Amino acid sequence: MAKVYVFDHPLIQHKLAFIRDVKTGTKEFRELVDEVATLMAFEITRDMPLKEVEIETPVSKAKVKVLSGKKLGIIPILRAGIGMVDGILNLIPAAKVGHVGLYRDPETLKPVEYYVKLPSDLAERECIVVDPMLATGGSAIEAITSIKKRGAVNIKFMCLIAAPEGVELLKEAHPDVDIYIAGLDEKLNDHGYIVPGLGDAGDRLFGTK
Ligand code: PRP
Ligand code: URA
Repeated sequence: MAKVYVFDHPLIQHKLAFIRDVKTGTKEFRELVDEVATLMAFEITRDMPLKEVEIETPVSKAKVKVLSGKKLGIIPILRAGIGMVDGILNLIPAAKVGHVGLYRDPETLKPVEYYVKLPSDLAERECIVVDPMLATGGSAIEAITSIKKRGAVNIKFMCLIAAPEGVELLKEAHPDVDIYIAGLDEKLNDHGYIVPGLGDAGDRLFGTK
């Protein structure tokens, strides 16, 4: 069964408070999303395997630990997921980035796929699917189904804010995918927006409306 992690790190919670605030403008919103993505990536990579190597310090030989070279793929769900990519790449610059383009039909709230471009060796990579918002869960479920069809087997899902309804549906649809959340909110409203949430993540990131 999928595990759900809600990050309670004070820095993540503090920055998330400003991300939610309607008074936060586009530039600051974008910077904060980037910073929270870095902090979440730090937590999410806690189980990355290490190997021992020998190096020389200016003083002596030393056995030290470095990452064992497990490959990572970051898969943002377009468009808002793009806002989280650089924050992760800051920590793991060797990761490859794939894109899944989905929008949520405003009437049906169902996801519509319009673009997919993924690393060719997806099956060998640990994939982190990123999107600031997990609302009904439709977009995350569809994106993960789409990358599984193309070979992904080892997948985590990371978002800033989630609604309980979306978490439940995602767990049911993809029980093998652990979910990492900065803020677990109360509910969805009648328009499928997360309450209290942060509004429309894509619009706030890119200054559209
Ligand atoms: C938003 C958000 C998620 C989706 C979440 O994207 O970034 O992808 O809604 O909703 P769901 O869980 O109910 O599917 P949107 O469709 O607004 O597209 P955008 O990122 O291009 O703005
Ligand atoms: N997508 C968003 O950007 N915000 C929500 O609250 C729900 C879906």
